[in-house]
Amino acid sequence: MTQQSLFWSDVGEHGRLCYADVLKGLAEIEPESCQLIIADPPYFQVMLDEDWDNRWKSDSAYLKWTIKWVEACQRVLKPDGLMYIFGQLGKREHVWLHLCSEVTKRMQFHDMIIWDRAVGYNDRKDSFTPQYEMVLALRHSENATPYFDKDAVRVPYDEDTIQLYLKDKRYKDKKAREAHLRKGKYATNILRVPSLKGASKEKIGHPTQKPLALIEKLIASSSREGDLVLDPFMGSGTTAAVAEAAGRKWIGIDNETEYIEMTRQRIEGTTVTE
Ligand SMILES: C[S@@+](CC[C@H](N)C(=O)[O-])C[C@H]1O[C@@H](n2cnc3c(N)ncnc32)[C@H](O)[C@@H]1O
Repeated sequence: MTQQSLFWSDVGEHGRLCYADVLKGLAEIEPESCQLIIADPPYFQVMLDEDWDNRWKSDSAYLKWTIKWVEACQRVLKPDGLMYIFGQLGKREHVWLHLCSEVTKRMQFHDMIIWDRAVGYNDRKDSFTPQYEMVLALRHSENATPYFDKDAVRVPYDEDTIQLYLKDKRYKDKKAREAHLRKGKYATNILRVPSLKGASKEKIGHPTQKPLALIEKLIASSSREGDLVLDPFMGSGTTAAVAEAAGRKWIGIDNETEYIEMTRQRIEGTTVTE
């Protein structure tokens, strides 16, 4: 159910949920208060059975709305913060290209991350089977230097690789070399995280629920404990669940009461999340 009203509620130890239209909710947030924004917005006519993805008459109406909420997010983002926006390309999803072009006129392009979903996800006959989605990373402005902790998202080497690398004779100090290898390698901007299967225990009933492991990488690398993380399109509360567990403050906005309640239950532990 969608209404035009707005209410806030405290959830868990660190969170606040805002039931509202995204623009109304964002207008109530302090300027430059969020270290990290994770936005997984409606894609526009991709989820054909969902009202929330089919409310615009045209690509240009959708893009006009997108620019409004992106500008509202820029207002609340700290100057050294990052904003991630999820999107994808496919038969119907070409509007994502225009979205990237429009929003990078307002905020500064920072990176394009590939979410490798590990398996293909539809039955496309006229091209390769899609397997990835994209996450556009934006920083506040051109000269901003965003906070990013590469050490927080290192990827471990397996034992065979460590033993092989330790045979490299160029490294005289074996102990130091081993300690270095055991820290793992830096993650690339291709994040391989399996998408949630229908039977996954993590799934709680939202049609576009993102995996916790994917959001964990964004939160661990792009915020510190105690920082405020904002998700303006909260859905099932994936960002909230990760932020709450990682000791970040968080705000989640959604204009469907069903999803506000789903997030609340997820954080308060009445729903299985992993
Ligand atoms: C793609 S889903 C987000 C899924 C989420 N990342 C997750 O892991 O569950 C987009 C969400 O945006 C919400 N939404 C759509 N239009 C909105 C608006 N104008 N204001 C606030 N929320 C909106 C929908 O209800 C939906 O839950």
